[in-house]
Amino acid sequence: MIAVAIDGPSGAGKSTIARAVANALGYLYIDTGALYRSVGLYALRSGADPHDREKVKALLPGLTLSLRHVEGVQRVFLNGEDVSEAIRTPEVSRASSAVSAHPEVRAFLLETQRALAREHNVLMDGRDIGTVVLPDAQVKIFLTASAEKRAERRYKEYIEKGIETSFETVLQDVVKRDYDDSHRAAAPLKQAADAVELDTSEMTLAESEEAVKAIVLARCGQEG
Ligand code: DC
Repeated sequence: MIAVAIDGPSGAGKSTIARAVANALGYLYIDTGALYRSVGLYALRSGADPHDREKVKALLPGLTLSLRHVEGVQRVFLNGEDVSEAIRTPEVSRASSAVSAHPEVRAFLLETQRALAREHNVLMDGRDIGTVVLPDAQVKIFLTASAEKRAERRYKEYIEKGIETSFETVLQDVVKRDYDDSHRAAAPLKQAADAVELDTSEMTLAESEEAVKAIVLARCGQEG
């Protein structure tokens, strides 16, 4: 099996780029952020403060998550309910970042992620894929862009979906999530020593996709 790990901060374009490259190469695209977002959504719905480690930990036994792929598109199910759209709000973004800091949450999601990589050629995106989840991945890419560029992209997404917010709020959220994601004790966001860094600040989406595809093919074109 071939595993491609793509890590990086939020809004670097990971999911859009990773999905396109996975489709082009015939690999299964796994968006691991959707799992953390689902835990965040579940905490919010249960009335638990996502920062409260004990409260969130107590929720986990009542939570079943699964990823299914419908025509190449990943859907995430929370106790049987398709929450793929419900997890894409600013509130759930903040909650997901909070719950992802709890080691119990990370341990709870680890096996789900590894099992997928055992069964399929995967292109998996997240924060700790190259460092923790799949340390033996054949290809590791660390995708970044400036905070302003990433906030711009996320702001556009929210506006297109009719979610009301301001650019300043989105930028503050991006900066705060970067800080929290890279300073937490459990599996912080950091570049794996053997990852290739790709800064997409000045690249179009098409250029970024080509660059990622080229890195993957250079590493395992013959195997794939
Ligand atoms: O990629 P995303 O924005 O959908 O991720 C949501 C949150 O989940 C993010 O703030 C950090 C966390 N996350 C993580 O800790 N580890 C991952 N592999 C993926 C996401």
